[in-house]
Amino acid sequence: MIKEDVISMTKVYVRKTLEGEGSGHDWQHIQRVYAMAVKIGKEEKADLFIVELGALLHDIADWKFTMGDESVAPRLAREWLSTCRVDESTIDRVTAIIKEISFKGAGVATPMSSLEGQVVQDGDRLDALGAIGIARCFAYGGYKGREIHNPEIVPTSHTSFEQYKASKGTGINHFYEKLLLLKDRMNTETGKKMALERHQFMEKYLDQFHAEYRAER
Ligand code: NI
Repeated sequence: MIKEDVISMTKVYVRKTLEGEGSGHDWQHIQRVYAMAVKIGKEEKADLFIVELGALLHDIADWKFTMGDESVAPRLAREWLSTCRVDESTIDRVTAIIKEISFKGAGVATPMSSLEGQVVQDGDRLDALGAIGIARCFAYGGYKGREIHNPEIVPTSHTSFEQYKASKGTGINHFYEKLLLLKDRMNTETGKKMALERHQFMEKYLDQFHAEYRAER
């Protein structure tokens, strides 16, 4: 199968699989990450075929929705790419990206072993930042039944993946526990630049939020 066909068939597969996903990891998220990863991948001179497949398949089964079983997504991706008769070395490179990509807590390092993985991770992280990141943060909080803000619950820096998974938190705390940390976790120069702009937008948003919360503005 030629590369273009693998990509377009994978788009159909992912879209169908994630249909009706209500927590912010839906097809719209995949499309944004895909577009961003392609943009960064071109700048960084990465292997675009690997980047495209990694971006499309990176949330095919997110741990937040598979009861923490991290082997599900790489397995699904491998099965799918085998169906498309993609060669083994490409499959290995793509599944490695999917294995490595998740954010697992503030104090937990998640290094990517390839440039293509770094590009996809940057695309995924950028989608958690800025105006879209704010929207996704509260959409996910609502999905989990979390409060928007509660000053009595203080943000925590999770030092293990277990702790991060088990945390209750609020929408606003999620900024301090994850979103504001992401700009320093970007891999590529292109990603860093874009993350900084989105980061500053979120800081402005939080400043306004807290001022409104205190009835100052
Ligand atoms: Ni994602």
